[in-house]
Amino acid sequence: MLQSVRWRRLSWQVALVCALAACGSPARSADGVLSRGPYLQMGTPDSMAILWRTEGPIRPTVRYGRSPDQLDHVVEDDGITVRVSPDQSNGDDLPRLHSAPEQTYQYEAQLTGLEAGTEYYYQVFDGERALAGGDADHRFATHPQPGQARPLRFWVVGDSGTGGKDQKLVHDAMRQFTGDQDRPLDLYVHVGDMAYGSGTDDQFQERFFEIYQPTLRNVVCWPAMGNHEGHTSKGETGVGPYYDAYRVPTRGEAGGAASGTEAYYAFDYGRVHFVCLDSHDLDRSPAGAMAQWLRADLEKTNADWLIAFWHHPPYTKGSHDSDRERQLVEMRTHVMPILESAGVDLVLTGHSHIYERSMLIDGAYATPTTAEGVVLDDGDGDPSGDGSYRKSAGLRPNEGAVQVVAGHGGAGLSRKGTMPVMKRILLEHGSVVVDVDGDALTAVMINKHGETRDLFQIVKRGEVSPQRIADPWRPEPPSPEEMRPPGKLPRVLVPKNAVQLVKPHEHWEYLAGEHPPEDWNEFDFHTEGWSSGRAGFGYGDDDDMTQLKGMRGKYSVVYTRTEFGEPPAAAGELGLVINYDDGFIAYLNGQEVQRVGVKKGSGTDAGKIDSHEADGYHYIPLPGARKHLRPDENLLAIEGHNRKIDSSDFTLDAYFIFVPQDEKEVVEEKAEKEARTEQEE
Ligand SMILES: [Fe+2]
Repeated sequence: MLQSVRWRRLSWQVALVCALAACGSPARSADGVLSRGPYLQMGTPDSMAILWRTEGPIRPTVRYGRSPDQLDHVVEDDGITVRVSPDQSNGDDLPRLHSAPEQTYQYEAQLTGLEAGTEYYYQVFDGERALAGGDADHRFATHPQPGQARPLRFWVVGDSGTGGKDQKLVHDAMRQFTGDQDRPLDLYVHVGDMAYGSGTDDQFQERFFEIYQPTLRNVVCWPAMGNHEGHTSKGETGVGPYYDAYRVPTRGEAGGAASGTEAYYAFDYGRVHFVCLDSHDLDRSPAGAMAQWLRADLEKTNADWLIAFWHHPPYTKGSHDSDRERQLVEMRTHVMPILESAGVDLVLTGHSHIYERSMLIDGAYATPTTAEGVVLDDGDGDPSGDGSYRKSAGLRPNEGAVQVVAGHGGAGLSRKGTMPVMKRILLEHGSVVVDVDGDALTAVMINKHGETRDLFQIVKRGEVSPQRIADPWRPEPPSPEEMRPPGKLPRVLVPKNAVQLVKPHEHWEYLAGEHPPEDWNEFDFHTEGWSSGRAGFGYGDDDDMTQLKGMRGKYSVVYTRTEFGEPPAAAGELGLVINYDDGFIAYLNGQEVQRVGVKKGSGTDAGKIDSHEADGYHYIPLPGARKHLRPDENLLAIEGHNRKIDSSDFTLDAYFIFVPQDEKEVVEEKAEKEARTEQEE
């Protein structure tokens, strides 16, 4: 824990600096601007920490109260800890941040003596100058009294920290979901990899704080460190940008046993006990300090619900494999037995860039993981499907837990195989919202489009005698489509010996802003009134030869067609090479030969369009297409679809090739592999 530093001392130092520099203005603080936050940390029934950063020092003050118009309490002086960037030489007794930008002052205000289960509003000041808050958006609620049952809603996100579009969509989708239900979050659990690629201070700022700020000012984010944060922050020392960003309990301040470290900790919310572990860089053995603390903590709790979270999943075949990787194997074999003997209900992890959710399982410690004898309920846990999972009231040993891998918060998705204890495996971006209300815990997976893609419930009531299923339900082996994210194609190189039947940037006829008759994709169709232009077609991202300037906001489909002659007589395969945003359907002489990202219908009836950014040409072999060829003249037609009519961009850029069979060599493009490696480590 950090020493509290008096504003008086800082004020004196600033005054001295000013005096030495003979500066006329008394207030260096006038330059202070918010560079992070304000955001909340370490909520308890009677306290809350409010953190923020400024560029340059200020006179930090927080005012708070029960309504935005009545901020009748003040925290200043001793109630505010300050830490400064390493470049600051004045005041050697000010604690230092690890690697914050020059001139950074981080203020950590501790609000104490609050009423439990109560909503407060707050405002941050530099002296009398308001910096943030004082409105309806800057509020928080304290945790309920210890042991008091109270509905809890929390958000679970993992592997989000790219700063990219998918991360933002996932966050927006959660806010839309909770907003539509008028049921906001009570807290936020991040299971790690929140700042790619190395968890630096800048990456935290850009890829965590800036994106989640509207949520972070209202609820506490309780973090688990991921391997990417581990590049710059160390669990052993508790030093690094990750440890600068967060304040978590070390002395049992929020409930549970004192851990003496910020690397692992516990907290309570009413009847729910949370434990967070460091699966990355600490001893995971049963005799290690972390396991010893965990046992002591679990022994102490008398909660009704036990939820554990950390980064490396005990069960996964997403972008990582829990049968093969050490941290994952050790968390399964060393830590899961401790948690399950204490009655854990839910285990939340990330690391693997996928959503995987188990059946109700217990005792699956073997390597490789098998389903026989470890599944207690092989249904889907959905109250309107196979029914909720049932456990006895309170915490009873070994009555089953649900494992959720939520590594789908923004980073590139991938899947290696099928984990046999899983009930749902979804290769799409999203996050999880969990509600605990009395004796029921309900979790939903909301994808980045706001669709509910999974729902399960655990009900803990009365006495339940768990039965082990000798031969439980098992997930089907995945189809090739299920092995890759929707709308994504495997990136393959165009074979060197390919013959171009339709050349890149060829002239095509196109129809934009209206729909053609049904036979528009037939060879004999007359294209009266159509326009002509070079491929590709689109707008918004400066990559289109033919600009569709009137498209945005007006229409979402473009029809294109071009003719080509006789293909070579040799044995071989036709192939489409295409750069697209967001989806398309391709036809050869009126016959559909490929569709990507358009899940149903075509033309005016097309629906369920996946989002896909134009990211260069993809080569798609069309093995069955040759039978649709005409002997002399042929027609290639493609309809391109934008997911949303007001989308910021659209691209449809294709050419068409023939690959002689004997030299056909399709190689996975190195570039994509390299791009993925960083996020998949
Ligand atoms: Fe990771």
